[in-house]
Amino acid sequence: MRRARAQDVAVEDLAREQAAAELARLAKEIAHHDRLYYQKSAPEISDAAYDALRRRNDAIEQRFPALVRADSPSKRVGAKPESGFAEVRHAVPMLSLNNAFTRQDVEDFAARIRRFLSLKDDDAIELVAEPKIDGLSASLRYEDGALVLGATRGDGSVGENVTANLRHVRDVPHRLAGRAPGVLEVRGEVYMARSDFAALNRQREKDELPLYANPRNSASGSLRQIDPGITAERKLRFFAYAWGEMSEPPGDSYWHFLDRLRHWGFRVNPKARLCKSPAAALDFYAEIAGERASLDYDIDGVVYKVNRLDWQQRLGMVSRAPRWAIAHKFPAEQAQTVLDKITIQVGRTGTLTPVANLAPVTVGGVVVSRATLHNEDYIAEKDIREGDTVVVQRAGDVIPQVLEVVKAKRPRGAKEYAFPTKCPCPLETDAVREPGEAARRCTGALACPFQQFERLRHFASRDAFDIEGLGHTHIEKFREEGLVATPADVFRLHRHKAKLLEREGWGEQSVANLLAAIEARRRIPLDKFIYALGIRQVGQATARLLAKHYRSVDAWLEAMKKAQEERKENPDEMKKAEIVGPSYAERRSIEQIGFGVADEIVEFFGEQHNLDALEALLGEVTVEDFVAPAAGKSPISGKTIVFTGTLTAMGRNEAKARAEALGATVASSVSKKTDLVVVGADAGSKAKKAEELGIETIDEDAWLKLAGSQ
Ligand code: IVH
Repeated sequence: MRRARAQDVAVEDLAREQAAAELARLAKEIAHHDRLYYQKSAPEISDAAYDALRRRNDAIEQRFPALVRADSPSKRVGAKPESGFAEVRHAVPMLSLNNAFTRQDVEDFAARIRRFLSLKDDDAIELVAEPKIDGLSASLRYEDGALVLGATRGDGSVGENVTANLRHVRDVPHRLAGRAPGVLEVRGEVYMARSDFAALNRQREKDELPLYANPRNSASGSLRQIDPGITAERKLRFFAYAWGEMSEPPGDSYWHFLDRLRHWGFRVNPKARLCKSPAAALDFYAEIAGERASLDYDIDGVVYKVNRLDWQQRLGMVSRAPRWAIAHKFPAEQAQTVLDKITIQVGRTGTLTPVANLAPVTVGGVVVSRATLHNEDYIAEKDIREGDTVVVQRAGDVIPQVLEVVKAKRPRGAKEYAFPTKCPCPLETDAVREPGEAARRCTGALACPFQQFERLRHFASRDAFDIEGLGHTHIEKFREEGLVATPADVFRLHRHKAKLLEREGWGEQSVANLLAAIEARRRIPLDKFIYALGIRQVGQATARLLAKHYRSVDAWLEAMKKAQEERKENPDEMKKAEIVGPSYAERRSIEQIGFGVADEIVEFFGEQHNLDALEALLGEVTVEDFVAPAAGKSPISGKTIVFTGTLTAMGRNEAKARAEALGATVASSVSKKTDLVVVGADAGSKAKKAEELGIETIDEDAWLKLAGSQ
């Protein structure tokens, strides 16, 4: 008679040898199913069959504790993500929200909507108001009802693939209930309840591990664990509140969409309320502010969203935030503490920022020991002195601020603060203040080691070149040792491999990792490249606008150099903006870019050392052309449009936003480059010029048809 296979023998009948073989088989088999489930999202066996395998493994281990394997499935939950976290490009960008701090801000928000949509005074604006959860947003992608991808927000365009971890978040359905669209991306907030946070920190204290500062940090840390088993232990939760890509229309109203989310099996914040007017939404805000302390999750405000989805669509977005929603933040939390010393920080563009070094104090659950003092005038105006007791405020993510001095507590002999006129760097270069500027700036430009350091740090940072492992500390050390001074040097670091290997605490592997991380970034999209240069006032949104306008790095550089030449020839006229050369005019025609910013950009190109650094950098990296987000095959995609005259059905801003969403570029004046002029009522010279140049013109009705609104 053949002996029964070990896998068919009941646990209590297993011999020791059989048990060992059985544990080895189960470890392999469970790991295989974990991989299929967590990484491939394609399980081969039912949940019940999988559970049976795990139960058998546990039972054998209980009977033979000495046989527990190092790779036992009981020691972990789920599988590790394939490679740290892979990048995920969001099919539809994940937006952020603009903030309102006062009733007036909210009223302005409603007034903007009214204007943009050309609403009549008695048209009601319904808003859905819901608590603003202080967690981190995530996107869940379902295909044919099954969860196939979960990602963090990242920079809004590209996040991290944390599917395996999100599967362990309670409230995240693995399958949608009822009839679901073929493709559905649900977005919402991952958070940790206050009670779970307190319990987690109690445990960490016992285990002598560092404590988390607040539930949000802890939710974020827990979701971004490489081992999903750890995420599974942390009790994360999820409130759904938005959608990304969807293969069918979301419906007519946001309120109804929330219902649909509930039917699919998501948790929607039960406090969400449909408000008939902005005034009713403000009442909701007051109510929630009163309940805030008793909720089991942290909130930092209330979000208002326009209920009608056709209006949401028309309102669109500006610079990554929708026009149809706003976050009404709660007032910041405050505390008193002693300001020990004022120190000066030098930013990457040489700005001297005074920093208050404080006796540590807890503000809104976070320990604060430094706060910004903004600039020289701020200190003088508030008469802030070393030794003073000050009121410190923290508002959400904003850097803590010193609000005011408690004069009654001022120590005797406290001296007025004298703002330094030299840069604190070893070169002690002069720090000057241009007329009309609030900031004092170091004149050392790239020679000032502080600036060099800050520029490099910005260059390698997450939203710029994103070089993993090249953080603050390494940059400082490499710079001190003369290994890097300019951005291009980062890409030449491999030439110093021998020196890197000599460094204390560095082995083959760590050097190889760093050099590989640098190599991985030799290609970069144009917008990130522009941002990485660290030009004053050019943040991510402006960099994107420039990239979108010029498309390729060559076109951008050429235009900027030309603008610089024009400005050199005619500096005063340029300032007055009366005589403007084509490229300077062109740049200002990217409408959201103001004069000040345009001047900064041109100034950057006027400095020879910047041009040298740029050229060296371009010898090391490849800049990818800007790829416009898929605008579909609209008839005006890629065309340049000018609007003139009064439009009656949609305001000028809406028309512009709509044209841009359809892939067109909107210009403010008619030239040979214009493809189409939309002529509203009472149009003047632009319509005439279009006619002269033989450019196609259409009336408002034709435009509405083109824009798909009729
Ligand atoms: S709506 C376009 N609703 O707040 C829709 N966001 O400050 C964008 N947040 O990134 C988000 N609670 O992480 C929305 N009820 C809520 C929210 C909420 C929290 C977060 C979200 C967003 C951030 C913006």
